[in-house]
Amino acid sequence: MKALLWASLVTSTFGATHNDEQYSPPFYPSPWAKGEGGWADAHQKALDFVSQLTLAEKVNLTTGNGWMQHHCVGETGSVPRLGFDGICFQDGPLGIRFAHYVSSFPAGINVAATWDRKLAYTRGQAMGKEFSDKGADVQLGPVSGPIGRSPEGGRNWEGFSPDPVLTGVFTAETVRGMQDAGVITSLKHFIGNEQEHFRIVREANGYGFNISESASTQIDDKTMHELYLWPFADAVRAGVGSIMCSYQQINNSYGCANSYTMNSLLKNELDFQGFVVTDWGAHGTGVASAFAGLDVSMPGDTDLGSGFSYWGGNLTIAVLNGTVPEWRLDDMAVRLMSAYYKVGRDKLRVPVNFNSWTKHTYGAEHAMVGPQHGYDIVNQHVDVHRGQSALIRKIGAESTVLLKNNGVLPLSGTEKLTAIIGEDAGPNAWGANGCEDRSCDNGTLATGWGSGTADYPYLITPADAIQRTILDKGDGLVDLVTHNWAYDKIQQLASQASVALVFVNADAGEGFLAVDGNIGDRNNLTLWKNGEEVIRQTASVCNNTVVVMHTVGPVLINSWYDHENIKAILWAGLPGQESGNAIADILYGQVNPGAKSPFTWGKDRESYGAPLLYKQNNGNEAPQIDFTEGVFIDYRAFDKTNTTPIYEFGHGLSYTTFSYSDLQIQKLDAAPYKPTTGYTSPASSPSNSSKTWSEYLFPESIRKVPLYIYPYLNSTDPKEASADRHYGLPTDQYIPAGATNSSAQPLHPAGGAPGGNAGLWEEVYKVTATITNTGTRPGDEVVQVYLSLGGPDDPQIVLRGFDKIALETGQTKTFSAVLTRRDISNWDPVTQDWVVSEYPKTVFVGSSSRKLHLNAALP
Ligand SMILES: *[C@@H]1O[C@H](CO)[C@@H](O)[C@H](O)[C@H]1NC(C)=O
Ligand SMILES: *[C@@H]1O[C@H](CO)[C@@H](O)[C@H](O)[C@H]1NC(C)=O
Ligand SMILES: *[C@@H]1O[C@H](CO)[C@@H](O)[C@H](O)[C@H]1NC(C)=O
Ligand SMILES: *[C@@H]1O[C@H](CO)[C@@H](O)[C@H](O)[C@H]1NC(C)=O
Ligand SMILES: *[C@@H]1O[C@H](CO)[C@@H](O)[C@H](O)[C@H]1NC(C)=O
Ligand SMILES: *[C@@H]1O[C@H](CO)[C@@H](O)[C@H](O)[C@H]1NC(C)=O
Ligand SMILES: *[C@@H]1O[C@H](CO)[C@@H](O)[C@H](O)[C@H]1NC(C)=O
Ligand SMILES: *[C@@H]1O[C@H](CO)[C@@H](O)[C@H](O)[C@H]1NC(C)=O
Ligand SMILES: *[C@@H]1O[C@H](CO)[C@@H](O)[C@H](O)[C@H]1NC(C)=O
Ligand SMILES: *[C@@H]1O[C@H](CO)[C@@H](O)[C@H](O)[C@H]1NC(C)=O
Ligand SMILES: *[C@@H]1O[C@H](CO)[C@@H](O)[C@H](O)[C@H]1NC(C)=O
Repeated sequence: MKALLWASLVTSTFGATHNDEQYSPPFYPSPWAKGEGGWADAHQKALDFVSQLTLAEKVNLTTGNGWMQHHCVGETGSVPRLGFDGICFQDGPLGIRFAHYVSSFPAGINVAATWDRKLAYTRGQAMGKEFSDKGADVQLGPVSGPIGRSPEGGRNWEGFSPDPVLTGVFTAETVRGMQDAGVITSLKHFIGNEQEHFRIVREANGYGFNISESASTQIDDKTMHELYLWPFADAVRAGVGSIMCSYQQINNSYGCANSYTMNSLLKNELDFQGFVVTDWGAHGTGVASAFAGLDVSMPGDTDLGSGFSYWGGNLTIAVLNGTVPEWRLDDMAVRLMSAYYKVGRDKLRVPVNFNSWTKHTYGAEHAMVGPQHGYDIVNQHVDVHRGQSALIRKIGAESTVLLKNNGVLPLSGTEKLTAIIGEDAGPNAWGANGCEDRSCDNGTLATGWGSGTADYPYLITPADAIQRTILDKGDGLVDLVTHNWAYDKIQQLASQASVALVFVNADAGEGFLAVDGNIGDRNNLTLWKNGEEVIRQTASVCNNTVVVMHTVGPVLINSWYDHENIKAILWAGLPGQESGNAIADILYGQVNPGAKSPFTWGKDRESYGAPLLYKQNNGNEAPQIDFTEGVFIDYRAFDKTNTTPIYEFGHGLSYTTFSYSDLQIQKLDAAPYKPTTGYTSPASSPSNSSKTWSEYLFPESIRKVPLYIYPYLNSTDPKEASADRHYGLPTDQYIPAGATNSSAQPLHPAGGAPGGNAGLWEEVYKVTATITNTGTRPGDEVVQVYLSLGGPDDPQIVLRGFDKIALETGQTKTFSAVLTRRDISNWDPVTQDWVVSEYPKTVFVGSSSRKLHLNAALP
């Protein structure tokens, strides 16, 4: 329990010492960056840069200047002596938050629904370019945690899919796209951050929960590797520059102070060479977090706007007093600068030209403390959203899943009378950006709410686009009822209509904002705003009803999906600014749907398992969220309990049809797996700074901004400078065993290269099959490869590969996918490595997780 004890001594806000609760094993020292796997060049440049820095300059790179002190949501200190501006961090995963003249891209969940690697990459690149041109260095996205354990999870839509392979592929493609455009990707949230409730003590207190510590998620080692860590491994392998540690605890140790998750899993086993940054305000301890593997504190202050920091001056002191070895500080700075050079930021950098806190041209330089401390041009209104509408529209259409179609779609556009029904078809009367961080469900839903949103440059509603399409195609009538409780008006219109298009939605978002009593996480899985009744009212009088859903994830559709008058159902997710155009493209056949559902549509909530925790379950202490379902979430849970969903994971129809034949599995020549052995090099410091305390006093010349976080000291008396009431405890009480050990350390058997042991990525089987378009239109089919790993504890099947294949009418193509060694392995907690079990394994190829047309044993 020592690891927990020191944490509680170091800071009063930390350290749940619950002997009966699950605990996270200590892992020290924090692995130092080595410049491996494509990082050599960037690492060398970073070493060269950091070797020139003083102690205060290095500390500056590790710590934000404080909440709302600069233009970005977070900015590190700068190195004026070398003309180096602080690093600008900006939200979020689907576009630039707190800025205008930017794009609002489709959400991550829509990217997953496309099952299209190239679109994911292109979206990442397009977003990265916008960030780069606005002067942001780090894009806070994408998201692979939450992965989507519970369907109500408020931020699931920011990520991709509850399947780790799908999420891993799209995380990696997004990372590559963004970083190729020259911004550092900060993948979040590491790890186990699967719900909004109880993530932050203060936030929970604000909602009336009396808890003293954030929730703790308990994840066993096998589940960690086979599910939650999986996509992070893909991202590390893709060269991700940064990873954000999470607010909540893992095994009762905070995400940003957990040596097991950061040091062992991320930096040792996955050999991550970039930097770990805190979620905003998730920093809760000084020295302990440095040892546990944290590299950058954001936005720098203890509590947002406090003016104090666990790092900043405290980190300068911790190095000066000999507690934190200089090599650990240097490693933080080297990791940050490696990421900077890796993405080529040094060649693309422009000064930040937007301001997160005002859209006015002039404003306070330090919004936190007001214009009396500097007033200037803070916004250049640079337009970076140029030319992205076609891409956004394409992703919107290609992510729209055709769940049901009794032959009515596509529409011709020449229908005599088209009825458009539902608030979700029309605009937000308050304006598309009328609610703070999109925290309302007014009008059509094209994104969730919270920090993972961007201002719409415009928002095409379904009503706009459908009316325009109809007017372009012929001379049909079209009318619109967007009042969801105006039943008589709905019926009047729908009963006359040749076709009624009903638009409904369900929203969710981040926990700091509540909408209709939903604290980020959804309170239920039903439609919002009376959606079911709008559908029933329409379908009761119109025998040609089509339902379109804009939802953040699965909703319960059992009460209406099989109504005889409901002829087609579409899920359009959260398509972003081109929402209306995208759905019109599908409804009128401009685009033949090829999307597949990235999650399961169950008949009831219970069949998903993995309940979200809405109530305190540990007195006033950290709520305990036990991931007892293991790897059995979404389709794996349905398969395990033999529960038939309404629409299964991977399901999605097309306006054409496909046939599958001729499955072949070829064993490839692969070298036998070699667990990694050997040692790292010892830790080294590129610089050896002066340890003279007086050199780090506030410079005489400085114009001190109130509440600003500096690397300087205001006294050569350490205790006074630190202002920490625990200052000077004997170090053996809080320095974990081994934390300062700078000698060569053993490599992890499953490690040795970014993303893990290279042998895990070796291709061991090739799967091919023949796919034919048997229908009457060209179309795309997503061919899916599932594997039964065969063991008694394994899911019935797991997704292991896929490809989206475009086929002309009558055309036949060969689908092929490769399985890597990781794909056919299980995590073995005993050897701490991946192993291929002796159980017989079967490969399935199909058009969904339950339409497995072909199968064969793995030879
Ligand atoms: C959490 O505890 C479980 C069970 O003791 C263990 O398997 C797992 O590795 C631990 N994970 C972390 C992050 O501490
Ligand atoms: C640290 O960063 C701040 C803010 O950018 C800057 O004013 C200060 O000069 C920097 N200190 C050093 C030692 O470079
Ligand atoms: C929260 O719980 C603690 C411990 O039981 C108690 O002392 C405190 O008064 C409670 N606070 C509120 C606001 O109810
Ligand atoms: C140093 O950290 C302690 C908590 O560990 C905090 O209370 C104090 O305010 C910090 N000091 C400064 C100067 O930020
Ligand atoms: C060294 O400085 C850090 C940061 O202020 C402080 O937490 C720690 O108690 C100090 N240690 C000693 C031995 O003075
Ligand atoms: C917009 O949403 C807010 C928050 O839910 C709600 O209070 C308000 O009535 C809505 N406004 C309109 C015009 O729909
Ligand atoms: C589910 O939540 C939504 C949004 O708050 C609400 O409109 C709806 O009425 C709720 N459904 C049920 C069955 O309570
Ligand atoms: C739908 O209703 C119309 C008008 O009542 C009728 O002409 C038509 O045949 C019906 N279509 C179907 C498919 O039932
Ligand atoms: C750093 O410099 C000091 C003073 O010159 C010296 O005593 C110390 O050994 C040096 N440390 C390293 C790691 O080079
Ligand atoms: C010295 O720093 C501490 C922590 O920042 C602060 O509480 C104190 O007011 C400062 N004193 C002066 C003279 O600036
Ligand atoms: C430092 O780590 C190495 C490698 O794990 C180990 O052999 C050595 O005993 C450690 N040194 C100390 C002083 O603990």
